[in-house]
Amino acid sequence: MKFIAIANQKGGVGKTTTAINLAAALSEAGHRTLLLDLDPQANATTGLGLTLEDGASIYPVMIGAREVSAQIRATTQERLSIIPSERDLVGCEIEIARLDNPQYRLKEVLRPLRASQSFDYLIMDCPPSLGILMINSLVAADGLLIPVQSEFYALEGISKILDLTKRMREQGLNPELNLIGVLLTMFDARTRLSQQVLTELQSHLPDKVFTAIIPRSIRLGEAPSFGQSILQYDPHGLGAHSYRQLAAEFVTRVQ
Ligand SMILES: Nc1ncnc2c1ncn2[C@@H]1O[C@H](COP(=O)(O)OP(=O)(O)O)[C@@H](O)[C@H]1O
Ligand SMILES: [Mg+2]
Repeated sequence: MKFIAIANQKGGVGKTTTAINLAAALSEAGHRTLLLDLDPQANATTGLGLTLEDGASIYPVMIGAREVSAQIRATTQERLSIIPSERDLVGCEIEIARLDNPQYRLKEVLRPLRASQSFDYLIMDCPPSLGILMINSLVAADGLLIPVQSEFYALEGISKILDLTKRMREQGLNPELNLIGVLLTMFDARTRLSQQVLTELQSHLPDKVFTAIIPRSIRLGEAPSFGQSILQYDPHGLGAHSYRQLAAEFVTRVQ
């Protein structure tokens, strides 16, 4: 089982859209996939059609009140399960910050999940901040996928998170963390800016930019309001096609 963090400290770059639709595409391709919503905004949870429920998140697990297996919910898609978020996850940050070695908390509580081998992939949707939940996710993860919006400040954004992982490595926090790849999102092939961002990313991070590129698509933006992944909402559109392509590439990169 592989644990993957979808992270970028910037908000609105397509983390949640990628977490939902990559997880959906992996499960469609036959992989047993678990999505862990670590953002108190709970967009991945509602985007997959679940209603928010107090106590139905990783929070009680993080504070030792419940087993991780008790928090797993089914979704409308076969082979795709979720550990939802709840608003109170904000309180979780504060509470675990008081524990000893708070950075290792998630890694520890997920141990039974890894041992159970009930899933092939755990996809973690991170909040848009460099807070304790994101650090926990990066410590627990085997791999990191960074979504990058096709915009002017894209490179600045990823240098921040790459610096963070470098510092974590130096502190021995998770030296094995592997950068799976950088995913260009909201790409508009008609604009020169999108093309420029792509070229720059490829020259800065050779071999790390996914060949799959996610186009800007109204359908991708609409799907969560119907509680559906793009594979359910618009299975034959460009958005679904791109996320299937990403899933195939992802599987070959995550070994
Ligand atoms: N490829 C895309 N095309 C159009 N809209 C998108 C696309 N990806 C994301 N969005 C929309 O942009 C907003 C931010 O995306 P989201 O995935 O929530 O980002 P993050 O989780 O990084 O904050 C959301 O409203 C989402 O529906
Ligand atoms: Mg999000």
